[in-house]
Amino acid sequence: MRKKITIIGAGNVGATAAHWAAAKNLGDVVLLDVVEGIPQGKALDLSQAGPVEGFHYSVLGSNDYADSANSDVVIISAGLARKPGMTRDDLLAINVKIVKSCAEEAVKHSPDCVLIVVTNPIDAMVHTAFTVTGHPKEKVIGMAGVLDSARYRTFIAQALGVAPKDVNALVMGIHGDNMLPLVRLANVGGVPLTDLLSTEEIDQIVHRTQTGGLEIVNHLKTGSAFYTPGLAAVEMAEAVLTDSKRVMACAVYLEGEFGIDGYFLGAPVVIGEKGVERILEFELTAEEKEALALSVEVVKTQMAATGL
Ligand code: LAC
Repeated sequence: MRKKITIIGAGNVGATAAHWAAAKNLGDVVLLDVVEGIPQGKALDLSQAGPVEGFHYSVLGSNDYADSANSDVVIISAGLARKPGMTRDDLLAINVKIVKSCAEEAVKHSPDCVLIVVTNPIDAMVHTAFTVTGHPKEKVIGMAGVLDSARYRTFIAQALGVAPKDVNALVMGIHGDNMLPLVRLANVGGVPLTDLLSTEEIDQIVHRTQTGGLEIVNHLKTGSAFYTPGLAAVEMAEAVLTDSKRVMACAVYLEGEFGIDGYFLGAPVVIGEKGVERILEFELTAEEKEALALSVEVVKTQMAATGL
């Protein structure tokens, strides 16, 4: 069976996700946007890379949700992105309306899809998609942990001069300044990070990870990161489409796990064809619990602001 992935929002993140999905030969790609012409033009351009790159699935640009029908995965990236001086929370009021409409339409046309939400502030937007659609919780997932963990792993790899792939490190909690890059569990080829770098060096890496999105916004000035956010969403989609049971950090609906109840926050999970197949709960230290509690406070405030 051919697989189908719809990406809603043909801006930088959405178009880049389409690019990665096509290059990885994951299935037919539909790039959807309300702006007439942009998804069509970008999709047509991308489809013409097929003979060169050697991918064989279609890439379609559209303004019509009917074209998204029966998608296996729908990635929602529509919404405003951050500019310098803006926090992710500044985007909330406008993006909640956009995500509500995208999620409702997506599920209406693809009732069995796994929804992956990328729009900021991610933890509140994925909760919004879950609430307005009533879609099963395991099929509504927020992208953030894959991106934040990738940033953490990159900075560790650079500090040590090792291949980023060999760095194992997890970021939990909110996609924001209070995210929790776990130091105790980070390792390089199985060797604890704490044995390889000083506390000061690790503190710097943790801080740079927590503000990793802002560092890029400040460089770009007209928008936010898109290469790795787009790839991170596609990495999650690939785990669903191939039923690979990959373990990745994602924003998922927690019901008591890690002591958090009724909110979406980043946690390590197993992703397969059903979406979130298992939450890998483990014992946190008192200090880690305290740090995670900050994420809960922020997401509570964000959810109150959604008015849902
Ligand atoms: C970032 C945006 C996607 O962290 O929130 O780059």
